Amino acid sequence: MAGISVNPTVLIQGTRMAEGNYLVGVDIGSSSIKVCQLKDVRGKRTLVRFGYHPLPPQTIVDGHVMNTAAVLEGLNALFTQLKIKRREVALAVSGHAVIIKRITLPLMSPAELDEQIDWEAEQQIPYDIKDVQIDYEVLRSRSEQGQMDVLLVAAKKDEINDTAQVAREAKLKPVVIDVDAFTVQNTFEVNYGLPKEGTIALINIGATLTTINILSAGIPAFTRNIINGGNAITEEIQKRLGISYEEAETYKTGAVMQGASTGRSVVPNEVPQIVRQVCEGLSGEILRSLDFYLATSGEREISRIYISGGTANIPEVGAAIERRTKAPVELLDPFRDIAVDLKEVNGDLLNLHRAQVAVSIGLALRKDREKA
Ligand SMILES: Nc1ncnc2c1ncn2[C@@H]1O[C@H](COP(=O)(O)OP(=O)(O)OP(=O)(O)O)[C@@H](O)[C@H]1O
Ligand SMILES: [Mg+2]
Repeated sequence: MAGISVNPTVLIQGTRMAEGNYLVGVDIGSSSIKVCQLKDVRGKRTLVRFGYHPLPPQTIVDGHVMNTAAVLEGLNALFTQLKIKRREVALAVSGHAVIIKRITLPLMSPAELDEQIDWEAEQQIPYDIKDVQIDYEVLRSRSEQGQMDVLLVAAKKDEINDTAQVAREAKLKPVVIDVDAFTVQNTFEVNYGLPKEGTIALINIGATLTTINILSAGIPAFTRNIINGGNAITEEIQKRLGISYEEAETYKTGAVMQGASTGRSVVPNEVPQIVRQVCEGLSGEILRSLDFYLATSGEREISRIYISGGTANIPEVGAAIERRTKAPVELLDPFRDIAVDLKEVNGDLLNLHRAQVAVSIGLALRKDREKA
């Protein structure tokens, strides 16, 4: 990492502690790039730039950029079209490359912890410590028990460098590299506030990745990545109907949109059923993680679940989770307490992709100077 001004901080309270100017939030997802820029307008956080650029299939595979040219083209097009002058960006490293663990350690001073953390990480992380960037945050000190809870994050250097490198090639300057799950948490925090008690889950369901972040009394208690998402639905439609990926994608979103409106049917009859079946499987995987958390934490229930990501648009996903957890499920609204400047932002485009911006808004909340 020598000479690289990338700071893969996690800063759970980053948004509150942030100082300086907002970075441009750039979420390079496997299906599309999302770019958001915020500005404080009369004391209110306001979205002043939003852009969306779809990426061709196989551009990013297992978190690796396979088609650099496509990503560069997307970044250049977005920054040019949106006339974004600022080049300092916050990027996310996807869950494919990250391990997050909550560990309990004996109470120690910050200096001692700093010295100890690599050794601890070595015990906890199944990678060579040389290959990962370690970050951590003390979640809670429990002096009565002489213990403290620490959030340990290990991100593969390879993938951090990959992501930062693509951005640099697009003449951007990566200042912060964050972790998907925590960007969603920051978006949630500024819009809803973190609940002081009870347990909630934030679930971001994208194209190839689903991140689960369970917060207990406002503190991350459990984080898990599931390598699965909406692509699985598209691929199943493609396979079963023997059609191209693009057609299958159109049918999938067509089936979902049609469910919401009374438009004329152009989608083959099998499609809604395939969508339901694959969603059932995906929800099952999510539920196993939630059940695992409940079984191991001793907590009785999750009181509310907020879902985001493009695949959260499919009503069956939320419904299946709600049916089986009995917890109310709602779409996370990234603009509950963030204004949108409709003179600068295309409102229709934003509405179409509303569910997909949780990560890029979380990134756009980061600033160029932050108190750790
Ligand atoms: N209206 C919709 N109905 C159904 N599926 C949708 C809809 N809108 C988006 N999707 C699906 O959501 C996925 C994209 O979501 P998102 O933008 O959150 O993923 P990503 O960030 O590109 O990918 P990842 O984070 O998994 O790498 C795709 O699978 C897409 O088909
Ligand atoms: Mg994503």
